[in-house]
Amino acid sequence: MKLIRSIYVIATAGVALGFASCSASGDHPGYEYAPQMYNSVAYEPLTQIVNEDEGKWVSTREDEKGEFFNSNINNPHRMNMREPVANTVPRTKDGLLPYRLKAFELEKAAELENPVELTDEVLEDGRLLFLQYCKACHGINGEGDGLAGEVIGGVANLKGGAYVDLPEGHIFHVIMKGKGRMGAHGTQIPQERIWKIVHYVKQEIQKQ
Ligand code: HEC
Repeated sequence: MKLIRSIYVIATAGVALGFASCSASGDHPGYEYAPQMYNSVAYEPLTQIVNEDEGKWVSTREDEKGEFFNSNINNPHRMNMREPVANTVPRTKDGLLPYRLKAFELEKAAELENPVELTDEVLEDGRLLFLQYCKACHGINGEGDGLAGEVIGGVANLKGGAYVDLPEGHIFHVIMKGKGRMGAHGTQIPQERIWKIVHYVKQEIQKQ
């Protein structure tokens, strides 16, 4: 028993010492377990490691620098990402400006023009999108008689009365931000597609 206990004590002390030697002290920065979890090998736009020797002990790089050295020497302050030019405005994936009008700014939205050129192809895309996103409530012909619409009640008949004269920007805004009992679709449908739906509503639904 005594022997086993001493082996146990020695082994525990050994493991403890082993761990202790990994820790940082003085000029020694310590060792890291699985360093790839802390330092990205991929080029990171917003972090940079300027020490050329960082991760040298695991390095497989052809330039013989440390595996984790990750700075762009051609940029100011060796940053990986350059600051965008002043007054740069981001674009959405479909190349349009981000939509910044708030839900209550319906009147401003009404002045917007449809940036998507009207073609047969666009109308066909619009038709399919309408079936996908609007039919459930507004019905296949936009008359407010979709199956879900019957449950919700009060769905607008897009062919009826004043709705026929709605400006394109108004319809775009309602789809984007929602109105009354209709929910916003802006997080689900990219802008360009919404404008295609607007074309379809104007050209096909409301002219039938
Ligand atoms: C969940 C059901 C639902 C869906 C889906 C839906 N709508 Fe609506 N929509 C409504 C309801 C309800 C109203 C009436 C809103 C109100 O005034 O309370 C409405 C109103 C409208 C109006 C009239 C807005 C106004 O100024 O009064 C338009 C235009 C419209 N919807 C277009 C669409 C289009 C296009 C789609 C597909 C992208 C769509 N809707 C999807 C339920 C829906």
